[in-house]
Amino acid sequence: MNKVGFVGWRGMVGSVLMGRMLEENDFAHIAEPVFFSTSNAGGKAPEIGKEIAPLKDAYDLEALAELDAIVSCQGGDYTKEVFGKLREKGWNGYWIDAASSLRMDDDAIIVLDPVNRDVIDRGIESGVKNYIGGNCTVSLMLMGLGGLFKAGLVEWVTSMTYQAASGAGAKNMRELISQMGAIRDGVAAELADPASAILDIDRKVVETMRGSDFPTAEFGAPLAGSLLPWIDTQLENGQSREEWKAQVEANKILGTSAAVPVDGTCVRIGAMRCHSQAFTVKLKKDVPLAEIEQLIASANDWVKVVPNDRAITVQELTPTAVTGKLEIPVGRLRKLSMGGEYLNAFTVGDQLLWGAAEPLRRMLLILLG
Ligand code: HSE
Repeated sequence: MNKVGFVGWRGMVGSVLMGRMLEENDFAHIAEPVFFSTSNAGGKAPEIGKEIAPLKDAYDLEALAELDAIVSCQGGDYTKEVFGKLREKGWNGYWIDAASSLRMDDDAIIVLDPVNRDVIDRGIESGVKNYIGGNCTVSLMLMGLGGLFKAGLVEWVTSMTYQAASGAGAKNMRELISQMGAIRDGVAAELADPASAILDIDRKVVETMRGSDFPTAEFGAPLAGSLLPWIDTQLENGQSREEWKAQVEANKILGTSAAVPVDGTCVRIGAMRCHSQAFTVKLKKDVPLAEIEQLIASANDWVKVVPNDRAITVQELTPTAVTGKLEIPVGRLRKLSMGGEYLNAFTVGDQLLWGAAEPLRRMLLILLG
């Protein structure tokens, strides 16, 4: 593999991908990286430590067809527009994509190599050419609980999510901060006066949040100081699309023949870029907690068991602690009062790293050998 094209490298996920590739010196393994743009063909390509050509047009099928692999973080609309036409032209290169459009296709593998390297290797051997990043909550769940799935211990899981603004996009992250600022600004005088009444502050805060000036263009509702228990579109069975993805994608990633049920409620909260999840795991048998911790901790190099201790938990098992890091802490591990087969767990992961960019760069490295 010599020529690798990058599309959508300037957006939020693309920028995180570029940052990680530079950090790990990945471009040293690519003979000819080619950067594309949907709006600035001919412009200057990014600094990657070697001479490369100016930006090419991301809609130029001839230029794309010359590549051995394409990595796209451009989004689902771009994939829908370009991918089919490129394959129709007979292009047989590797397509690595962050968008969900192709994820559930039979000729695509969802990539999360610390969990499904076996599935990926079988795919490469059998000539699969499409490798797609998973939904962020699903990837983060499997990075955390993969050891229990691999041991065949999971009868079912409910996942109650606490999803960050970044999952909805860069504009949403800005809107969340604007909402926080508007709330604070609305009661600045009262906050400065220690004698002001908290219920008056609270009333003013909610007036601000319900007011027509409150910035809600992106989320459609106040998120700061509140939460939104619906992510993505509404399906006919009452699930949100985000909730639907949990079971279908988790089982596809694991390559399981008999599907393990995974379902729950997906909730947007006012965190910036770390998704958290609370799990109830129904185990197939009553396994001692120490054994469970061992299975979880030894599943990959990034998962870390956090002792079920208050002081450590509030320091280490939070979006604030985990943002920008690859580690996947799993804590609050204890048996629930329903019985020894019912495990409680909580995990936090950076939505832009293992939730989006990291599996893609690792897939590219696998293909580069
Ligand atoms: N759909 C996810 C979210 C992000 O809205 O948080 C993409 O995986």
